[in-house]
Amino acid sequence: MTRSLNVNDVLDLMLAHRSIRAYTDEPVPQDHIKAAVAAGQKAATSSNIQTYSLVHVTDPAMREAFIEISGGQEKVRDCGAFFVMCADMRRHRLLADRCGAPCEENVESFLLSVIDASLFAQNMALAFESLGWGTCFIGGIRNNLNAVQDLLDLPMSVSPLFGMTVGKPAEDPWPRPRFPVDTIMQANGVMDDEAVLAQCDAYDDLMKDYYLKRGASGRTWCGQMERFFEQPKRPHLRAFFESKGVRWR
Ligand SMILES: Cc1cc2nc3c(=O)[nH]c(=O)nc-3n(C[C@H](O)[C@H](O)[C@H](O)COP(=O)(O)O)c2cc1C
Repeated sequence: MTRSLNVNDVLDLMLAHRSIRAYTDEPVPQDHIKAAVAAGQKAATSSNIQTYSLVHVTDPAMREAFIEISGGQEKVRDCGAFFVMCADMRRHRLLADRCGAPCEENVESFLLSVIDASLFAQNMALAFESLGWGTCFIGGIRNNLNAVQDLLDLPMSVSPLFGMTVGKPAEDPWPRPRFPVDTIMQANGVMDDEAVLAQCDAYDDLMKDYYLKRGASGRTWCGQMERFFEQPKRPHLRAFFESKGVRWR
């Protein structure tokens, strides 16, 4: 028996996602922010550890400073609300200290906090989108996490990961196509290398139209990705996370 897919508003919202990078000056009301954060918190969290904190950056001078940190992204000032997502093991460390137990911040705890924070952030982004706001993640803050830490005065075990701009869209960009589902999902294993490369080339055909609409004809996804990891990205990050208490063991 085949079951029909019950297409609904949630799926429609998710499938219509695109990052918004230009905003009107409309502020995001506090009740929308609280609702989106609460929805974010309902994301699954490993063993309910909830290893994240969110900084709502409202200070105009701080917002200005984030432009430079994130490589000239003026949307961090121009958006209706700007947030910094942090991995946060401080609660766990303080509780362990209080009862005299060790608190091991190792690769697994680091992964847990990054996964938890990311699930939280994505839920929060969807909640904002459902309320009519546009969002964009800002990984650019990792250009200089020491500057983020100094600016926000973050203590040990609280590490900034990425930012998020939220605001009323002042643009209507084309949605960016993703790989077909069959490229991403296989039964009981993954495809061989030759098939992977064939799927990447097929994706370029799909992206041609998108790049054309964006006035970037001739660009290809494969061409961009071939060089994307040519150099180690942000190699200073290891030392930064170590300075926050993470040990790679
Ligand atoms: C962790 C993360 C960091 C990102 N950092 C930036 C950023 O610094 N600036 C930016 O304009 N977009 C940023 N993005 C948005 C991506 O470029 C965007 O999601 C991707 O190109 C797909 O486009 P779409 O979201 O419109 O579908 C980031 C996305 C993620 C998930």
